[in-house]
Amino acid sequence: MSKCVLVTGGAGYIGSHTTVELTAAGYDVVIADNLSNSDMSGVEGVRTITGKNIPFIELNCLDRAAMEKLFEDYKIDAVIHFAAFKAVGESVAEPLKYYSNNIESFVTLLQVAEKYGVNNIVFSSSATVYGQPDVLPATEQTPRKPATSPYGNTKQMCEDILRDTVAASQSLKGIALRYFNPIGAHPSALIGELPKGVPNNLVPFITQTAAGVRECLSIFGDDYNTPDGSCLRDYIDVVDLAKAHVTAVSRMLDDKNKERYEIFNIGTGRAVSVFELVNTFEKVNNLKLNYKVVGRRPGDVESVWADTTLAETELGWKAERSLDDTLKSAWEWEKRVRGL
Ligand code: WQD
Repeated sequence: MSKCVLVTGGAGYIGSHTTVELTAAGYDVVIADNLSNSDMSGVEGVRTITGKNIPFIELNCLDRAAMEKLFEDYKIDAVIHFAAFKAVGESVAEPLKYYSNNIESFVTLLQVAEKYGVNNIVFSSSATVYGQPDVLPATEQTPRKPATSPYGNTKQMCEDILRDTVAASQSLKGIALRYFNPIGAHPSALIGELPKGVPNNLVPFITQTAAGVRECLSIFGDDYNTPDGSCLRDYIDVVDLAKAHVTAVSRMLDDKNKERYEIFNIGTGRAVSVFELVNTFEKVNNLKLNYKVVGRRPGDVESVWADTTLAETELGWKAERSLDDTLKSAWEWEKRVRGL
């Protein structure tokens, strides 16, 4: 009998890719999503890629009754919790929207999981918890800095909620995966990143500019203390990231975890600048991008990239896809979405 994994936010960018990889690894999956930042195309894309009619339950994780009904209807063995709002700027303008949604939905999920004896929780965290590290690359022991946005604060708070709930439990296990910068799309171009409205993140803004949806990419600052003056990030391919979730779930289900609460950085270990990413996108896709350099974006950290030793040695996971292939996949996805 295959183990069953509940993927909250599974219609979204990382959730849909993770559902594909879980299915490929032999897990049954149930997707729960309220479609507030996604639509059914994500679910349909997953069903096409996997060839399976993956169950989809439209619900809000804040809705306790709906969550309990899902756990009544399906025998869940593990949960991967993606469902959250994730726009940094929006969180500054509307903090209560973020604290209510991101914190209360996770608490509700943990309460329902406890009621139904589900003891394996993977939490979608973020490198944003590090802020600007004093020493780079960032390891899992790098001190978390005070969050610079309510979004980042909800990630730190949910890590602590999971840590404390595990500590108070006899059986609960949790893994927090701290993503660096997820980019790219599935090689089939049937699923990918489809932000609603104007993209906050770099790569969707690039692909929409290349597609003519946006007039011009603004590069936020070239006066940083970095080799080419633009910010450094660790861009992790979304399929590699999805596979990290499969290893985390398997680690807990196979009782291989060393502690009942563990944290792993999920990145490539390679720092890439904004200019390098733009230039690589142009090169591998054989196009010219319309961009201009403007002032710095408030809240941006200058440089952050991962030390991936722990994920490699403990999870047996390592990013495999090249930046070239990832940026090709991002463009193939955008072209398909726009009918180009
Ligand atoms: C990357 C670089 C920008 C847009 C945030 C969250 C993180 C994660 C990903 C949410 C920066 C520059 C960007 C643009 C630009 N979670 N940039 N022009 O800010 O590193 O991380 O999003 O999804 O938790 O903190 O990602 O893609 O916004 O920016 O020059 O139009 O690209 O200044 O240097 P970020 P990003």
